[in-house]
Amino acid sequence: MAKNKTVESRRPLIAGNWKMNNTISESMRLVNNLTGKVKAAKDRDIVVCAPATALAVVTTALKGKNIQVGAQNIHWEKSGAYTGEISAPMLTELGVKYAIVGHSERRQYFGETCATVNARARAALFAGITPIICVGESLEKREKGSYKLVITGQVKRAMADIKKSDAAKCVIAYEPVWAIGTGKTATFEQAEEVCAHIRGVLTKLYDAKTADAVRILYGGSVKPETIDGLMVKPNVDGALVGGAALKSDDFARIVNFVTPEA
Ligand code: PGA
Repeated sequence: MAKNKTVESRRPLIAGNWKMNNTISESMRLVNNLTGKVKAAKDRDIVVCAPATALAVVTTALKGKNIQVGAQNIHWEKSGAYTGEISAPMLTELGVKYAIVGHSERRQYFGETCATVNARARAALFAGITPIICVGESLEKREKGSYKLVITGQVKRAMADIKKSDAAKCVIAYEPVWAIGTGKTATFEQAEEVCAHIRGVLTKLYDAKTADAVRILYGGSVKPETIDGLMVKPNVDGALVGGAALKSDDFARIVNFVTPEA
């Protein structure tokens, strides 16, 4: 099925999440390798979410290139006594355009809750940074069949007090926890089912026009071999890529995805 090409804001988006990988020199090597391999892409957005220590050099290296830079976290206050955190003004000054919010690893290991996810997303929007809000169910909820309920709750709480015009700017990444770093990709149908469900939740929360503008990504063991099939799905607008984003050949192939209608 063809995607809704009339919605300009639903440009496909491929974001690489480097997680806690790459020193400054390793980041530079990866970025230099990538820029040579990624096609000039007028019809898609490409983002690399580097670790905080490398954001300055990566944003400088990618200035004027077709790859944008994202952070992996963002705090809800502008400044203050929040050791280890990073604020929106710190990111905007660097030219960071995106921030991952509520990744399941943050939820699992660092006490991220739906309330803090919401606060971070709102701070990002206020600063003109696009939040990539991650949601996803555990293996247990998947096996019990209650995964849609989990996703509904996570989306509703993440979007609390976010107005329609801001909601349309958000990116939501569906990342089933059981598929992250496990090599177990969700099937294209499973990804589409939940991405469509998320759009349905957004339609109820806002309206169809707003829901139609939100880009919904799939994440979890995305590989060069799976991206083309994934991107054909009408409600999958892109991918959040972990492991494969660390290898320039793999990430370039994912970014250069081809769909039948392209
Ligand atoms: P993965 O990670 O591609 O290594 O599964 C995805 C993510 O955690 O964003």
